[in-house]
Amino acid sequence: MDNPVELDPWGSVNIRDYSHLFEEFGIAPFESLLDRIPNPHRLIRRGVIFGHRGYDAVLDAMLKGEKFGVMRGFMPSGRAHLGSKMVMEEIIWHQQQGGSANVAIADIEAHTVRKMPAEKCFQIGINDYLLSIIALGLEPGATIYFQSKMSEVKDLSLELAAKVNYSELAAIYGFGGDTTLAHLHVPVVQSADILLPQLNSPMPVVVPVGPDQDPHMRLTRELVDRINMFSVFSHDEVIKVYPKGASESIFESLRHRLRDSFEVREHEGHVDIMVPEGETGETLEDLLTLVRADVRKIELEYGGYAFVPPSSIYHRFMEGLTGGKMSSSRPESYISLTDSPEDAEAKVMRAKTGGRVSKEEQEKYGGKPEDCNVYSLLLFHLLEDDRELSSIYNACKKGERFCGACKKEAAELVKQFLYEHAEMRNDAASRIDDYNIVGYSKKYLKV
Ligand code: TRP
Ligand code: SF4
Repeated sequence: MDNPVELDPWGSVNIRDYSHLFEEFGIAPFESLLDRIPNPHRLIRRGVIFGHRGYDAVLDAMLKGEKFGVMRGFMPSGRAHLGSKMVMEEIIWHQQQGGSANVAIADIEAHTVRKMPAEKCFQIGINDYLLSIIALGLEPGATIYFQSKMSEVKDLSLELAAKVNYSELAAIYGFGGDTTLAHLHVPVVQSADILLPQLNSPMPVVVPVGPDQDPHMRLTRELVDRINMFSVFSHDEVIKVYPKGASESIFESLRHRLRDSFEVREHEGHVDIMVPEGETGETLEDLLTLVRADVRKIELEYGGYAFVPPSSIYHRFMEGLTGGKMSSSRPESYISLTDSPEDAEAKVMRAKTGGRVSKEEQEKYGGKPEDCNVYSLLLFHLLEDDRELSSIYNACKKGERFCGACKKEAAELVKQFLYEHAEMRNDAASRIDDYNIVGYSKKYLKV
């Protein structure tokens, strides 16, 4: 029997461009987690999601039936396209695996940085983004909000703003003397989005992003470290607990409580916790989990946040249809979720392929699906069945498939998807009141 995934997902999705991220920034390859993932999504199976930071925590929670979440913000500055759909699917998949889903419309960012009029942010946020994510299958339990209407996010952003200085932000984002105060604040609003799902209820939360967003993730993890009351880590086979923001008296009660459950060695200013001697079989990792859980409980009792550092997963991007980057200023470079099926068809027919210059050469040398934007469309979006995809890949490679017919097939699938999506968006509009959307007003709904 054919191996349905005989195509090399790493090769075919051109991962080479991203591999430097692994060494340079400490993003871990996703591949090693694949075996543990229940009902892996198409984007996971095919290596589109290629890396992660701290996703083990999310996966552990998922497998144990514990609480976890997924969170992402969308910029309401342009139309939602297939790239946005990919992120929406990642959110929905995590919700289906039992996670709590959190969706922000980043209207503060769009308004203050991209100069979008506030009214437009609401119109685009609702019509382009929220209707589509609901149409794609987001369930009503999700937390959905506009940043500017969510006081918890704004409050938390101020707390986080107190933990980071100008030089740090300038180094990450290239801010300078002409950067507005509002723009300076935007990164901590985004961090507040990411941490909001954990307010009052610490849990692992994954943020699906492109690798370009990794600096945000590292900043947010750093801010978590700064804002939590205690720091807990393992070092040289012991677990160390340090107070950071915590007062002497709070740390004293923590020491007291830890003594009750663990083998504690007291030091000036911190405590060490040892793995108990004997046959308990407890590993340092197990112990770390237990200590962290206890410390979190106490931190919450004393009014701290006790945030779990947020996790992230990284997807690769599709190239613009006509080659080069996708760009909102070149509509022929992407397919929007509200394109008419006919426009989208025309875009696919004009897309850059990996085909040879003539039929004869195609037969002789085979095509290059790994450099083909039509193939990418099939792989990222249009074909659910791995076998079908794999046989297209192989036929193309062997010179048994030709671009004209291949494009037509892909264009047909795009049309079909957009027809259905338009219908589902209408249906979503009729059900939108089932969703709790902070900042929603009917007057913006246009469908
Ligand atoms: N800054 C993100 C963008 O440009 C949008 C965003 C806002 C976001 N809040 C977020 C992304 C939280 C991830 C998580 O697209
Ligand atoms: Fe791309 Fe299809 Fe042409 Fe192969 S046959 S290069 S997959 S368009």
